[in-house]
This record gives sequence, C-alpha cells and structure tokens, in this order.
Amino acid sequence: PAPTGRPTRLLAWYDRNRRRLPWRALPGEAIDPYRIWLSEIMLQQTTVKAVGPYFEKFLARWPDVEAMGRASLDDILRMWAGLGYYSRARNLHACAVAVLRDHGGRFPDTEEDLRALPGIGPYTAAAIAAIAFNRRTMPVDGNIERVVTRLFAVDEPLPKAKRRIQTLAATLLGPSRVGRDGKNCAGRDMKIRAGRDSKSRAGDIAQALMDLGAAICTPKKPACVLCPLNDDCAARARGDQETFPRKVPK
Ligand code: ADE
Repeated sequence: PAPTGRPTRLLAWYDRNRRRLPWRALPGEAIDPYRIWLSEIMLQQTTVKAVGPYFEKFLARWPDVEAMGRASLDDILRMWAGLGYYSRARNLHACAVAVLRDHGGRFPDTEEDLRALPGIGPYTAAAIAAIAFNRRTMPVDGNIERVVTRLFAVDEPLPKAKRRIQTLAATLLGPSRVGRDGKNCAGRDMKIRAGRDSKSRAGDIAQALMDLGAAICTPKKPACVLCPLNDDCAARARGDQETFPRKVPK
C-alpha cells in the first residue's frame, strides 16, 4: 500500500540532499559497476567514513576490474591492511579474476549471476543490481530496516520480521513495469504510471533510504520534521518512532 507520492517525494529529497560519496557518480555521469562493487564489498563490515580513503586508494591503483584481476593477491592484501575481515580482500581478487574469466571483464547485471561470484551474498547482489544496473530490487541494510519498520510500524521483532521488512521495502520501488504475463509492459499498460521517476530509479530509491536512515531517520531522536516521508510514517503518527525496529529481548 504505497501511495504513489512516496517515491516522488523521496527522490526529490535525495536529489537535493544526497551524500557525495566517492563511489557515487555525479548526476549525468555514467555509473561504473566496478566502483559500486568495490564500495559494496568494503562497506560490508566497515563504515562509510572509514571506507572513503581506502576506496580512493584502491581506485587509483586499480582503476578497473581488469587491472585488479591482474594484480597479485599479496598486493591487494597489503593495500587492504587496516580494513579488517581479510577474507573480503581474498574474495575481491577472486571475484575480479572470475569477472575477467567468466564474463569477459564486465560485471553481470542480474542478482542471480552476481550472487554466483566470490564475496557477493544476497544483500550485496541486490545492492549492485539496484545501484549499478537499476534492477528493481531492494538491498535492505540496517538503515533501511529502521526506516521501513518505522514507516509501516512493524511491531514484529527482528530477526523474525526480516522477510516482512524485505516485502514492505520493495513496495517503495513503486509499481512494477512487469505485467502478469511476465513481460515488460512499460508504455503498453499506460494505467501503470508511478511517474517517470520511480520507474527507472530503483538504485536511487535504495540509496535515498540509506541516506535517510543515516541523516534523518536515526536510531535516537530522528529529525522527523525534515523527513520527506513524515506524512506517511505510521510510527510517527503513533508517536513511538524511536521504539523501532523492535528486537527480541536478549
Ligand atoms: N552502505 C552500503 N552501501 C551503501 C551505499 N551505496 N551508500 C551508502 N551507504 C552504504
């Protein structure tokens, strides 16, 4: 039950307030799947702030997947030093090699094919598919979990609520362009019209929710007056937004 105004307001907010992050393309600039992949691997267990300098360092040394695939694992591990969780560095190298060997040096553009690569699990596959290829999928991280449980006042506690959160989060992408026959019906069924925005901006919607969770829908004292979704927020209507997400008591 997502009012069509929702993605539009969210995207308008994102267009004005999005974080400038080193892996994000500037408006009008081409999105580089290699950068998105590299950033998502680094962000798996590390904060945005700590990742920044490492991302820049890696990109300067290995500007594309071919360069990284030809690098030695030792050089990659040396460059990774300080980021922790070193299996990520091994997988980084293995993934670059696999993309060269199995995909002709181009990252695959479906969640399924991405998941088959070393170091890419369900979350990271969804993040790359959405952000790099605008696939209509939602990578639900901790920030998005918080935004969604508040927006819909999900009373069920984590971790049980994960599936429900995933389903609700996907509604924020707006109506699908795929008809009941499974074929892309963009332009054919003119009744389905979420506005030109949410149709083609799955990656921006996901990143908008990440930024919203980081800047406004914070764990403590969320800045609801500034939130583009405040009119739709069920938790805010009840006045108990800080109590989400609910968790099973330890
Ligand atoms: N955390 C994981 N992926 C991210 C992204 N693309 N932008 C900001 N934070 C993130």
